[in-house]
Amino acid sequence: MSDVQQMRNFAGDSGYEAWLAYPAVPSGNQRDQYLQWCKYVEADTGNTTIRAALTEWKRGMQSMLGLGVLEGQESGAPRIILGTWNEGNPLITTVFDEETIRSTGPEGFAIRCSREHQCIAIGASAPVGVLYGVFHLLRLMGTLADLEELDEVIRPVNGLRMINHWDNFDGSIERGYAGRSFLYENNRFIDEPERLRDYARLMSSTGINGISINNVNVHQQETLFISKEYLSDVARIADQFRDYGIRLFLSVNFAAPMHGGDLDTADPLDPQVRQWWRAKAAELYEAIPDFGGFIVKADSENRPGPFTYGRNHADGANMLAEALEPFGGLVIWRCFVYNCKQDWRDRKTDRARAAYDHFKPLDGQFKDNVILQIKNGPMDFQVREPVSPLFGALEKTNHLIEFQITQEYTGQQRHLCYLVPQWKEILEFDTYAKGEGSPVKRVVDGSLWGNRCSGMAAVTNVGRDVNWTGHLLAQANLYGYGRLSWDPELSAEAIASEWTALTFGSNPDAARIVIAMLMDSWNIYESYTAPLGVGWMVNPEHHYGPNVDGYEYSQWGTYHFADHQGIGVDRTLNTGTGYSGQYMGLNAERYDSVESCPDELLLFFHHVPYTHVLHSGKTVIQHIYDTHFEGAEQAAELVNRWSSLKGRIADSLYDQVAERLKGQAVHAKEWRDQINTYFYRKSGIEDMQQRTIY
Ligand code: GCU
Repeated sequence: MSDVQQMRNFAGDSGYEAWLAYPAVPSGNQRDQYLQWCKYVEADTGNTTIRAALTEWKRGMQSMLGLGVLEGQESGAPRIILGTWNEGNPLITTVFDEETIRSTGPEGFAIRCSREHQCIAIGASAPVGVLYGVFHLLRLMGTLADLEELDEVIRPVNGLRMINHWDNFDGSIERGYAGRSFLYENNRFIDEPERLRDYARLMSSTGINGISINNVNVHQQETLFISKEYLSDVARIADQFRDYGIRLFLSVNFAAPMHGGDLDTADPLDPQVRQWWRAKAAELYEAIPDFGGFIVKADSENRPGPFTYGRNHADGANMLAEALEPFGGLVIWRCFVYNCKQDWRDRKTDRARAAYDHFKPLDGQFKDNVILQIKNGPMDFQVREPVSPLFGALEKTNHLIEFQITQEYTGQQRHLCYLVPQWKEILEFDTYAKGEGSPVKRVVDGSLWGNRCSGMAAVTNVGRDVNWTGHLLAQANLYGYGRLSWDPELSAEAIASEWTALTFGSNPDAARIVIAMLMDSWNIYESYTAPLGVGWMVNPEHHYGPNVDGYEYSQWGTYHFADHQGIGVDRTLNTGTGYSGQYMGLNAERYDSVESCPDELLLFFHHVPYTHVLHSGKTVIQHIYDTHFEGAEQAAELVNRWSSLKGRIADSLYDQVAERLKGQAVHAKEWRDQINTYFYRKSGIEDMQQRTIY
């Protein structure tokens, strides 16, 4: 088999199959082992999710081994057995011991290779566990793992593993970089069941169990999603998702009761408003019995909310929660709330403080089925910002962390930026909420404070582009988010390695190159864009490309405060906005002091002269200058690194990425020149030719 065939062997090579491409397993010991165990399968197909698992299994076997799997048992022949504890093949409960059976939980599964019973068995409490088990086994084979020692129980760490779409009914996608929506066009639902099913397969294979299908900015058109007119369309999507263990959620507009002219208020304490939402919930659950619930962006960026009526976020969220409660629905209430009309002379009002200031005082006032959704940082998905101080601070309130897979500020899927290392860093961050050893991942999985509902959410990066994500390598972010939400202990490198093998196949030399490029990419992107924690230097509206004073709320430099004397935002307790005081324990001290603040966040927390010397030994201005040169050089080097894969992966995939990397290299130079020129002019240092200034 040639290299190219080995790296990718299915028809099309467009990237559409993504990590479910199931490349052929190369000949050798592993292939022989797989062929020995996988010829037969037994499954109870009375359930649609188990049927989906079986179909997936057959697809994988056909593609990886060229095997037309036979159903049913050939006496004594090795086989795969799939089933739940209560139904189907009784052997499933014989292969596993009592303790294992008790320990799989609602979504987990047990998997074991038993020579005695001549089978590899996947057992679970619920059909979705069996499906996850099948995806797991396929992943093991896609990464050429040995199956004969298999004996484990695998459960998701996070209860909620959500994807948020920001798709609009007109077919556009807010911050979408992979074409238009594949859900809607021209205020109609697109009827492409196959693509939708493939999307559900992809999501489910990584462990996603909830998807909200419309933008958090719910415009007039999307309020219709909860009207009778469109419920059947929404229900159709929910039906597709259900087979793959995914619950459908909708973003709703807080003022929805007023939109159809039904009511003249949306006051959460008004009995008529409460009744309106209760009736709406009943209607929704009649159409979609397992409807997940509502996502709400309220009193944020001009969205309506409870403030209009003098009420607070708890009043608003609880009103919706009360309506959904009888049906087991959730209200996911976003904490992205800030005052966007800040006066530039006002150096005390600080957007970074806003989420904490709004929500910390309300801790304990939310109903049990309300979950606050908190962006990973206090600002807005910049390439570098500190972790939101709300993590660890909410002892009595359910919450989710919100990541952004779509690369709004991180290159818009034209630049390579593998974000899993960033997310890992955030999840490992110690909040000190219960003393040392209180990392964000334990806050988020609910174990630190014993929350009933918790987990992760992320804004997705998919669109109608054939390869789903525009940049083929951006698929690694989508895959990585799902895997991390299932198990935050996985390393960024392990995830990159899985994704590379599953997408391109098992050529170790080629895989090494792809993995290293992914792993380096976040730092490279940061180097030529945002130094030392200063973000936002992008063009207004679309947020792409360098423009130091461009951000729409920062015309006056409010996000970097650069003048001829210095740069950075003073967020210290004594002289600044006091934001550093929102952290607990050592974090508060570490960030507050210019001496102990880590270099990469120095300008987020401190205003310093350009000649301030960093821990690295360089001055701030020299650091800016050097990193921008190095970053642009490394971006150019990515083109060369990728070119070594020519002929070793399918041309169509090779070309897609090569073209984007070339664009990135050119754009990185533009970033370098704009940022360096700006700060040299600002700082009064004229000589741009020499590389060493101080
Ligand atoms: C950012 C983004 C908006 C989005 C908002 C949000 O500000 O630019 O497009 O609506 O985040 O998270 O709600």
